[in-house]
Amino acid sequence: MPALRDIAAVTLQPSSPPIAPASGFVVTERDFQRVCGWLRQQCGMDYRDNKRDLLEHRMRRICERANLGSMQELAERLEQGSDTALSLAVLHGASTNHTYFYREPQVLTVFAQTVLPALPRGELRIWSAAASSGDEAYTVAMIAAEVLGLDVARASLSILGTDISPVMIDAAEQAIYPASRLNSLPPALRERYLERLGDGSYRVGGTLRAMCTFRRLNLKARPLPFQRSFHVVFCRNVLYYFDRAQQRATVEAIYDVTEPGGWLLTSVTEPLRDLDTRWVQVQGGVYRKAQ
Ligand SMILES: C[S@@+](CC[C@H](N)C(=O)[O-])C[C@H]1O[C@@H](n2cnc3c(N)ncnc32)[C@H](O)[C@@H]1O
Repeated sequence: MPALRDIAAVTLQPSSPPIAPASGFVVTERDFQRVCGWLRQQCGMDYRDNKRDLLEHRMRRICERANLGSMQELAERLEQGSDTALSLAVLHGASTNHTYFYREPQVLTVFAQTVLPALPRGELRIWSAAASSGDEAYTVAMIAAEVLGLDVARASLSILGTDISPVMIDAAEQAIYPASRLNSLPPALRERYLERLGDGSYRVGGTLRAMCTFRRLNLKARPLPFQRSFHVVFCRNVLYYFDRAQQRATVEAIYDVTEPGGWLLTSVTEPLRDLDTRWVQVQGGVYRKAQ
């Protein structure tokens, strides 16, 4: 069987006959759409046409590893719902996990200067709702340590990072990052909160790691399974995966697990306007729940 990179990505029209490249792997538009439908139903991911080749390529890779000879087999296995490992691999493969420390500093500055000082004293709960490999959660921990003082932050703050991908949750728990992921992080914070490892990568220090917990969670779960509500929720760079209905349902579900007067921080590129939600916009990427 040729290496997968040798197989040209094919974009099929609905009327296209099945194409069987040299590997024998067969894709029909109908089966590809079944996989897309499964993804939409499972986790709200709504693949646009411009991402189609990417998704198809990733699904082919998964099929190759799982020894599946066609998109039809993949669709059938997913729809049967009995192969958890395959389902998780597809959910992971379909998502874009790109993230880095200190992403979108304009929102982080509002968090440091407006949100943190306005929070009640005492126990604080923050949720990084699409945490990927944890860069966002640890960034939040660093900023809180800077603003509140490390001792106060350690004693009062717990940060939960969740993601649909178990691979990302493992990475977040490891807390080891290549230097390239720290390019936007102010050097003083890197020196204070990360340890340089022998191979040139960095590990988040133990104090910050102890403030952060990571769990797998599908943002489509209803109700969101929390016993205690959050003072601040970061939900950044994930809403654009979802169609409008799912975007709205997600931020409304987050509203229900946020403290009165609590905050939602999104990416500045993911405005909630026109979604008709209960959140009140404070400024770009910053929303607040009524008291
Ligand atoms: C681009 S990363 C964003 C990481 C971080 N929030 C940031 O802004 O840098 C998007 C993450 O959302 C996760 N994701 C996608 N759909 C999800 C869902 N339904 N539930 C939970 N996480 C999801 C993906 O696995 C991915 O790690």
